[in-house]
Amino acid sequence: MIEIPSDLIERIRNAQRPVFSTGAGVSAESGVPTFRGEGGIWNKMRPEELASVDGFMQNPTLVWEWYQHRRNLMSGVDPNPGHHAIAEFEKRFPGTILITQNIDGLHDRAGSSNILELHGNIARNKCFDCGRPYTEEINIEDDFPHCDCGGKIRPDVVWFGEMLPQNIISRAFRAAEEADLFFAVGTSAVVQPAASLPVIAGRAGAYVVEINLDQTALTSAADLFLQGKSGDVLPRIMDELNQID
Ligand code: OAD
Repeated sequence: MIEIPSDLIERIRNAQRPVFSTGAGVSAESGVPTFRGEGGIWNKMRPEELASVDGFMQNPTLVWEWYQHRRNLMSGVDPNPGHHAIAEFEKRFPGTILITQNIDGLHDRAGSSNILELHGNIARNKCFDCGRPYTEEINIEDDFPHCDCGGKIRPDVVWFGEMLPQNIISRAFRAAEEADLFFAVGTSAVVQPAASLPVIAGRAGAYVVEINLDQTALTSAADLFLQGKSGDVLPRIMDELNQID
């Protein structure tokens, strides 16, 4: 069982502005595949075909089928103890900010409320041309869905080469700059700008804790590396906190 340093528990109890930043590893124990590493999606699939503007323009149906497949997968899974521990943390320390690269909506389903979704959400659709949200049910067997403006409908997620939603990323940067305690959980820390958030937080004085199965690009810059599954480590942290109060 992983040892949680008592110094970390003390830091959490004294934190004024805690921030979590999560990646695909947090949802791995729910059965959502990660992108990199063993079994990673990008080992088998080509992101430029499936998750880019060019890929969508060249073969929108292929991209739709791929997202429909992922939607089906994500709608059939549940939040795991890692998601629940983060939600419990927020209830205990109101003001906690959760930044996520995940598009699966599992943090919301676990009960977190202060969430900044950097890469969008797979449950939403929007028009490729005018950006308007599209709320009609979509059946991939039907003709390709179009907006009233004539534009093609696409998932409301961020693809490679696209800008992140401006208001979300600016709030995420502000949260990182103002954080006094920053948890980076289940991310390989290679995709920008998300990867820079813990670094910015650390430079601005936050105590940076990384929770991951393996070392990453961030590990040497983190103040504390807790090696293990987020679904084990995060509940252990909550247990330690619960024992004190
Ligand atoms: P990655 O797939 O790159 O990395 C997942 C990380 O989670 C790895 O460092 C694993 O070691 C770790 N991991 C796996 N299982 C874990 C577990 N149970 N507990 C803790 N850690 C675990 O995923 P991200 O960093 O989220 O972007 O990827 C970032 C972005 O790249 C994604 O949002 C997506 C992708 O291309 C877009 O689609 C724009």
